[in-house]
Amino acid sequence: MCKTPLWTVTLLTAIAGAATAANAAGVDFDKQIAPIFKDNCLKCHGPDKQKGDLRLDTPEWIRKGAKDADEPTLTPGKPEKSQLYHRISLPKDDEDIMPPKGDPLTKAQQELIKQWITEGAPMGGGEVVVPKADDKAIAKLHDIGALAMPLARNTNLLNVDFRAVADQIGDSHLQNLAPVKEQLSWLNLANTKISDTGLKAIAGFPHLSRLHLEKTVIGDEAIEHIKTLKELEYLNLYGTKVTDKGVDQLKDLKNLKRLYVWQTGVSKDKAAELEKAIPGLRVDTGWEAPKIEPKPVETPKPADAAAAPAPAAAAVATLKPFNGDKCPLSGKDIDPTKTVAYKGRLIAFCCNNCKGKFEKDPDKLIAKVKDFKPAPYVTQFVLIDAKTDKPIRELKDGDTIDLSKEPKELTIEAKTDSVGQEIGSVMLKLNDEEHLEGIAPYGLAGDDNGDFNAAEILKPGKYTLAANAFSAEGGTGEPFAPTTISFTIK
Ligand code: HEC
Repeated sequence: MCKTPLWTVTLLTAIAGAATAANAAGVDFDKQIAPIFKDNCLKCHGPDKQKGDLRLDTPEWIRKGAKDADEPTLTPGKPEKSQLYHRISLPKDDEDIMPPKGDPLTKAQQELIKQWITEGAPMGGGEVVVPKADDKAIAKLHDIGALAMPLARNTNLLNVDFRAVADQIGDSHLQNLAPVKEQLSWLNLANTKISDTGLKAIAGFPHLSRLHLEKTVIGDEAIEHIKTLKELEYLNLYGTKVTDKGVDQLKDLKNLKRLYVWQTGVSKDKAAELEKAIPGLRVDTGWEAPKIEPKPVETPKPADAAAAPAPAAAAVATLKPFNGDKCPLSGKDIDPTKTVAYKGRLIAFCCNNCKGKFEKDPDKLIAKVKDFKPAPYVTQFVLIDAKTDKPIRELKDGDTIDLSKEPKELTIEAKTDSVGQEIGSVMLKLNDEEHLEGIAPYGLAGDDNGDFNAAEILKPGKYTLAANAFSAEGGTGEPFAPTTISFTIK
């Protein structure tokens, strides 16, 4: 197993960016409205109790309103036709006032809710209001090597990710998730040693929306537990033993939007059937092209690679050389440590001599690789003014950035060529700092729909920047070879 800690650090901004983009002007549901509900209403209208058959802890529930109510709970744009406003704005001694006990909401809070409804009651990307996770529970997760952090700045929902220690994680570790049951929203168990029965530990988690189980040994029995996750939107079963019989039980997961079943026992027919059964679902059976058995290529041991920074080494490691086991220049057997990343593919050579020759003139010598076809790859890095979001210039290998001559807020964008195959995500790695991006543009510090965040990490120093594309979201699916440049900042 390659122990390079590829997944360890900064997933932060990618996730923050993917979460709610607050409406630019106007009332912000997540920051201004949800906290009012949380402090004053959820104890009677939350996950535990639903007085008047009303829940106010998620946008979905708020939109649904009170079951069988005579008056609409919420009419976007019309506070006067919304019980949600009417009931909080009654005189203090009215028997219908909400909350029914204690102080009424302040005038300011009432006005805010009125204003928010008048603006159409926007609720962003669907934030869920949950209490903050217990610090001890988080500390325990960190102890066993998991990444555990909020999904975004303004939420208590958690992302828990075991990838960095995947090969040490088994069923017994999952019991540490029980204390964060309410908060757990994204869970990554890819490559871990969990079993079908082990997944019982997460059954019924109310807010679990993304679940990575790829490359685990789970099979149809596990679906028993997965089908209890009512909020599940994303499920990755790539490389598991799940079959048609298993996924058939997912039909009641009406929120499911993406299901990955590449290299499983799930048939194309069953995939199509599921897509019919669940409106809005896309089942990804994987691209058919090269059936690569992910037999890892040995990467150079850290000892002999001391000087050479091995950008995204672990990602490269799971890639099989495109040219098979013969050197395209000499015809001899390849040395799997002598590889070059070219247009999303890994090309392997027999010796440093051939490797060096190729690196000098790759565009010409690629003709020696039979039937070469690029994979999705990063074609170019562009220096961006994060304030105006305008490109400054292409950043090339060997460049120097003089901070005194550039705008104050900078970032770098990775431009890609999908060569006809969908890109699921792009991993950018600046020295050891990683950043995963789901949707273009792929910025070094993320973006909000193209509004780039400044990359504060760009300080004077020497850098190697590698970026590689993956066929699926969240750095999963098939990895493609990285594009790498080195540059200096002064
Ligand atoms: C102490 C418990 C309690 C708290 C706190 C509370 N409610 Fe209620 N709420 C109730 C009960 C009981 C009902 C059902 C009886 C009724 O309609 O008066 C209800 C009903 C409602 C309804 C009407 C549902 C329908 O049938 O149309 C709305 C709207 C509502 N609450 C909003 C709120 C809001 C907003 C808050 C916070 C500002 C809040 N409630 C806080 C107990 C509570």
